[in-house]
Amino acid sequence: MSPARRAIAAFTRLHGDAPSGVWSAPGRVNLIGEHTDYNDGFVLPFALPHRTAVAASTRDDGQLHVATVGDDGVVQQAAPVRVADLEPGAVGGWAAYPAGVAWVLREQGLTGGANLVIAGDVPAGAGLSSSHALECAVALALLGLAERPADDLPRIARWVQRAENDFVGAPTGLLDQTASLCCAEAHVLFLDVRSFKAEQVPFDAAEHGLEVLVIDTRASHSHTDGGYGARRAGCEKAASILGVPALRDVDVSELDDALARLPEELRPLARHVVTENERVLAAVELLRAGRLAELGPLLDGSHASLRDDYKVSAPELDVAVDAAKAAGALGARMTGGGFGGSAIALVPVERHDEVVRRVLAAFAGRGWTTPRTFTAVPSAGAGRDH
Ligand code: GLA
Repeated sequence: MSPARRAIAAFTRLHGDAPSGVWSAPGRVNLIGEHTDYNDGFVLPFALPHRTAVAASTRDDGQLHVATVGDDGVVQQAAPVRVADLEPGAVGGWAAYPAGVAWVLREQGLTGGANLVIAGDVPAGAGLSSSHALECAVALALLGLAERPADDLPRIARWVQRAENDFVGAPTGLLDQTASLCCAEAHVLFLDVRSFKAEQVPFDAAEHGLEVLVIDTRASHSHTDGGYGARRAGCEKAASILGVPALRDVDVSELDDALARLPEELRPLARHVVTENERVLAAVELLRAGRLAELGPLLDGSHASLRDDYKVSAPELDVAVDAAKAAGALGARMTGGGFGGSAIALVPVERHDEVVRRVLAAFAGRGWTTPRTFTAVPSAGAGRDH
């Protein structure tokens, strides 16, 4: 059963009535352009077919009632909270995500209560942006219930970012929520985070006999435990030493000079961001020219830079990437924030089975949990389902 249907069924069971509407939002993978978003740089994500759906109706007592329903139909209900009482720290665990969005939208005059029932199939903790899928679906649901327009997607993305940064406490950038809101079927989204200029670039790997294989290593990750925030702070410090608003402003031709002006510990961070932005631009050029099969070295370069300079990879990600390439992938890299989560590999379709076999064998040989793999096809962004 689709997440939307599951959410409707559970909503009707819980509240004795059908919801007023259902909104859903997808998870994402980022093809390339990692840790560039909070440096005002370039990203190139696409939306997954996996989605989080929110069935919703208004309440007239000003309370927010949130529940999730699993694959097995089991419902988990969060403690009800008055929208007027929402403050950072007031709600913990998974319920902080929907509550954070309600908190941000309260500033926009959305003070009414709501019943929300959530169902989704975006793998959680896999670096595929399940939390942003949830937040974006809740944002659209609350705007929809209040009959507010939901067409200014960059603005909604910033609200969701504020919920994540200031309510949940993860200092993340704009990649994930923008991908979830703005991506389109059969395309990757080339986004300049500084200007918010976005281009939908056609991406049909199958037409080239290729696929993007996602390898969820099942090594869990978190962006609230300091590693992510420390990198972000390091980038901001490097930009301020260099006298630029963000590392985006350092051109690759000036990189050596810039590095010479930075303290040793900040050099690898700056090198990663500047070269990663270049790789995104090069990848977009290849895609526009229909040369998908040549993306491999850029993916490999991105992974090496994230592993060696930015130091956000993990043994599981490195093993997945190496095994995929040894089995015939044209290129592979970690995707998302890192420290665990998922890798992607660009795989000739006829090598799919062998790549999966070699990755699973590499994990089994180390006694690690079996990874989950699937072929990712660029899918639709967030919207109203019913
Ligand atoms: C996480 C964050 C994003 C982005 C990526 C790294 O997914 O939520 O904002 O910084 O890491 O590219």
